[in-house]
Amino acid sequence: MDGTNVEAFDSVLEAIGGTPLIRLARVAPAAGPPVYVKAEFLNPGGSVKDRAALSMVLAAERSGELKPGGHIVEGTSGNTGIGLAIVAAQRGYRLTVVVPDKSSREKTLILQAYGAEVVVTPGAVPREDPAHVSQLARRIAEESGGWLANQYDNPANPAAHHGGTGPEIWRQTRGRVTHFVAGIGTGGTISGTGAYLKEVSEGRIRVIGTDPDHSVYSGGDGSPYFVESIGHYRHPGTAEDLWPQSYHRDVVDVVEPIGDRESILTARRLAREEGLLLGASAGTAVAGALRLAATLPPDDLVVVVVPDSGRSYLSKYYDDEWLRGFGFLEDEHDEPTVAATARACSWLPSTASIGDALDHDGPGDRWAVTVPRPGAAGPPAAAEVTGTLDVPRLRAAAAQHRARRSDPITDYVGPALPTTGLGETRRAATAKLGQAPAAWVLTDGRVTGVFEAADPAAPS
Ligand SMILES: Cc1ncc(COP(=O)(O)O)c(C=O)c1O
Repeated sequence: MDGTNVEAFDSVLEAIGGTPLIRLARVAPAAGPPVYVKAEFLNPGGSVKDRAALSMVLAAERSGELKPGGHIVEGTSGNTGIGLAIVAAQRGYRLTVVVPDKSSREKTLILQAYGAEVVVTPGAVPREDPAHVSQLARRIAEESGGWLANQYDNPANPAAHHGGTGPEIWRQTRGRVTHFVAGIGTGGTISGTGAYLKEVSEGRIRVIGTDPDHSVYSGGDGSPYFVESIGHYRHPGTAEDLWPQSYHRDVVDVVEPIGDRESILTARRLAREEGLLLGASAGTAVAGALRLAATLPPDDLVVVVVPDSGRSYLSKYYDDEWLRGFGFLEDEHDEPTVAATARACSWLPSTASIGDALDHDGPGDRWAVTVPRPGAAGPPAAAEVTGTLDVPRLRAAAAQHRARRSDPITDYVGPALPTTGLGETRRAATAKLGQAPAAWVLTDGRVTGVFEAADPAAPS
């Protein structure tokens, strides 16, 4: 309420937080406990990160780190930048946001609309690389005398949820909440909210993290995944992999790995069956909550955070063509699809020797050559394939004693192939080939086969 007795907020900042709980009336199991989403996409900047942004700026003003008219700098996949942009606009700060190139274009455009300066940097670089999001943001802050918000290590980030999200959920459920589910990016949401709910319930409430299955938080190999803003990717060249200080692991009882396909398809289901258009990290969290709910009695009560809206991802998770291209969608076609004639393939790290390749008993004539990733699990992510091994040529050279076992495979590696999704029509896949003799077939964004240009086994 402002001073004029009009029922209104004094500024948009007062509209941050206080989000409703909405029951999942249709997708949650009818015999199970009620499942409510905490609708964080209804914050003014469209995401849960408005809370952390406001909290961090207020704390920096209090401590004197941020002076009137000062410069805020942050590295973020987008939403924290949007939250900071709102606070900066209201309180008269300049803002520079460093975003990784995997962030959606919509988020960059929104940041620019609020007047923020956006610097795009490669996402897939080692943590120590000067171009890494965090390193670059730190350097820009140092060089300009700005204040680095540093959501990954800033205690005011989890504090926003300890003081806001947690008490709201407790109040809204009249203390009946039994399970709290959230994704983990910086860890601020789950750590702050989870800690509050555990304190107020004297340890009764269970806190469940949901994580992309290749993220290291849930024990994955750290290779690329498609859900934005959550999980922890590890570049193979990273020497020391630091986890954010905003993530308090002791608060979380279990971290559930969820595959990209399940996350994306759950988000799409929520739009069509519940009328909730949400981002993929919401799909991850709700998928985890639904799995959990299926194991619980009806008198439990599950609350799951849905961090942002699907409007930022219309060109990705809600675009059938995008999904099909990465092999996330295999819908019905009258025409023959790639799946009908895809051939098996194998993969090797670029550091493999000729001896390693000869001993490797894989199918097919073209093997994907990948960046070396210790502990890699399953087929390689398309983003980590750097070349194509010509297996018959290598075997022929070895048979004619022209190749030494200890030599690297490099001489037998050609360029990486274009990609096509498993569910694409053969016609669409052929159009993607250009001059290439074949394409990698992707299933869930990972190389699982080869599509040959003129395949005699192919139906016409
Ligand atoms: C869309 C989305 N989901 C989930 C998260 C993760 O939240 P937290 O950083 O609090 O762990 C973020 C954080 O940026 C986000 O933007």
